Parts: sequence; structure tokens; C-alpha cells
Amino acid sequence: MAAEPAPISFARGAPSLDIIDVEGLKSAADRAFTDDPAGSFAYGTSVGYLPLRSWIAERHGVAENQVLVTNGSMQADAFLFSTLVGAGDAVIVERPSYDRTLGSLRSLGADLHAVDIEPDGVSVDGVRAVLDSGVTPTLAHLIPNFHNPAGYSLSADKRTQLVALARERGFTIFEDDPYVELRFTGDRLPTMFEQSDGEVVYASSFSKTVCPGIRVGYLVGSTELIGKVAALATSTYISPSMVSQSIVNAFVRGGSYETSIETVKAALAERARVLSEGLRAELPEVEFVDPEGGYFLWLTFPEGTDGDALFDACAQRGLAVVKGSDFLLDDARHHLRLAYSGVTTSQISEGVTRLAEAYRSL
Ligand SMILES: Cc1ncc(COP(=O)(O)O)c(C=O)c1O
Repeated sequence: MAAEPAPISFARGAPSLDIIDVEGLKSAADRAFTDDPAGSFAYGTSVGYLPLRSWIAERHGVAENQVLVTNGSMQADAFLFSTLVGAGDAVIVERPSYDRTLGSLRSLGADLHAVDIEPDGVSVDGVRAVLDSGVTPTLAHLIPNFHNPAGYSLSADKRTQLVALARERGFTIFEDDPYVELRFTGDRLPTMFEQSDGEVVYASSFSKTVCPGIRVGYLVGSTELIGKVAALATSTYISPSMVSQSIVNAFVRGGSYETSIETVKAALAERARVLSEGLRAELPEVEFVDPEGGYFLWLTFPEGTDGDALFDACAQRGLAVVKGSDFLLDDARHHLRLAYSGVTTSQISEGVTRLAEAYRSL
């Protein structure tokens, strides 16, 4: 009997262990526990470990009471949604969008309006069309950099237009930005938050720059909103993990952060290059946009391709992918999301060959 092929996963939006700075984390933990055992091991406060909160506030040029540090940015998202979105409230989401965001909003009973994203980010005309149809959204959830799952980034011009639209039409933009530091080509763009005057709430994370297991993310918004979210955080968990946050604090203040980001970006750039070259060579009929950073490629197969059958054919060849339909509210079936963050370049080349074989087998 032929041996099963070794599994390859393009499914997990997570870094491989080789690009995590384990030594930097060990020494950050040592410093955190030596320098501030009381702060690291006590319950702490619902707004997070105060020295880290102050580092984040300084980086974003805001007051400390505009920042709340959470257990991963997923927790920040959940707190924000529970605070701002009630059953029946209209929320604009991107099409496609992060599956967990869609799930959280659905579980709150939100009335979701999906707007297509283009290679330069969400269609502003699409957002306007939703507003002009009489919908009055509470929130628009947007992933501006190296989108999950699309890999696309929102242009500078669209960022400005969207902030102006939120101001004019009275809705809040939730700028969900965990990948911002992972740009490997092109210039960094101003955030929507920086251009706003209370219309934008911003979230980011240390999952992609330090490691996901540490579970540290954060929310930046108006003092009033952060105060409300802090009250919810207190009643939910007293405080987030002080141990994790004190380690991240020592890591970012000790110089390991910049080095870690450079390591991650260099690996991602190389992996993205190998993946797109492989796809162009082996699957020329598939469309995608080369990402400028981040973890993901969104593949568009010819219309009529059955993504469910393709998923199964990949699985039979030991290749894990994510169905595009997981990120959509409609029934389009001809997309897949590939994550190149957790695979080596040789796994990527082999994975593309398996994907091409799976596609040709349909
Ligand atoms: C768009 C987006 N938002 C939020 C998250 C959650 O990240 P965290 O690990 O900080 O909870 C992710 C993780 O993949 C993501 O892609």
C-alpha cells in the first residue's frame, strides 16, 4: 500500500514555530517576572496591564484611557460587538470577511449587509449603495491591511472616503487591523482611526507579531466607549491575563519586537512569492492578487468550480485548505483561502502541486 502523503496545511492563519522568537519570549518572561512579580501575578485591572497599555497608547498617539488590552483581539471584537450591536441592528461587512467576525455578529442577531471588496479594498460605491437603500448601519466592520481572507489592502484614498462617509452618515467604522505590521512591499498607509474624530474604533493584536498563543490584543476608541467596554470586561473576567501582558510588555520594550517583525515579514515575503509563482505556473486559470503583506491569498477558480468537491479532493491528497464559502454569506462556491504563514517554502511548492492535481481531478 502506498504511504499517505505527509499533510500540508494552507488552512491555519497562524505562524509556523520557526518564525516565533522563542528565546526573546523566554528572556522577556524572565524580565517581566523579575522586575514586576506583583503586577504579573495579581488579578490586575480590566483595562489590561498598565505599562503595556501605556506603550500602546503612546504608539497610537492617544490617551491611556482610550486603550483596553484584551485576551487576543477576538476578545476585543466580542466586547465591542456586545457593546454596540443589538439584535436587528444593521452592520456592514466585507464580502468576503473573516468567518469568526461573521459568526459573532450573526450570534448577536445583527442584520448583515455584505459589500464586495476589490483589490484596493471594500467598494466605497457599494457602501454608499447600502446607505442609499435606506439602511442605517450601526457599524461597518473593515479589515484594512492584508485582508483575511482576501489578502487585499484598502487604498489611502478609500480610507479617507470611508471616514468622511461615516462622519456624514453617522455610523461607526470598526477598523480590525491585526496584520498592519506585516507589510513586506509598498508604503505603510495612514489608518482610518488616525483620520477620524470619534467615528472609528481600532483593534490590533500581538498574535501576528509576537505569537498567537500569548493571546494579547487591544482596542482603541473614545474614552467613553472604552469605559463602557471596560465595565463589560470587569464583569466578564475581572481582568485579562496579566502574565501574558507583562511578557508582551517586556518583549516590546526590550527591542525584540522590531526584530521579530523583521523575521516574520522576511519569511512571509518569501512564502508569498513561492506560492504565487507556483500557482501561476501550475494553475494559470486561477485568479488572485499578489498580497503586499500578511498571511493570505484568495483564489478565484473559474465560475462553476465546485469548492466543496475541490476541498474534498485536496483533503484526499493530504492538503488542508479553507473553503471560500466559509467567508461568505451567499452561496458562491468557486473560491478558496490559502494561508502561507504556517508552511515552509518546500511545503508550499508541494502543496501547489497537490492543489493543481486536485483541481484537474474534478
Ligand atoms: C481579521 C482578524 N481579526 C481578528 C483576529 C483575531 O486575532 P487574535 O489572535 O488577536 O484574537 C484575526 C485572526 O486571525 C483576524 O484575521
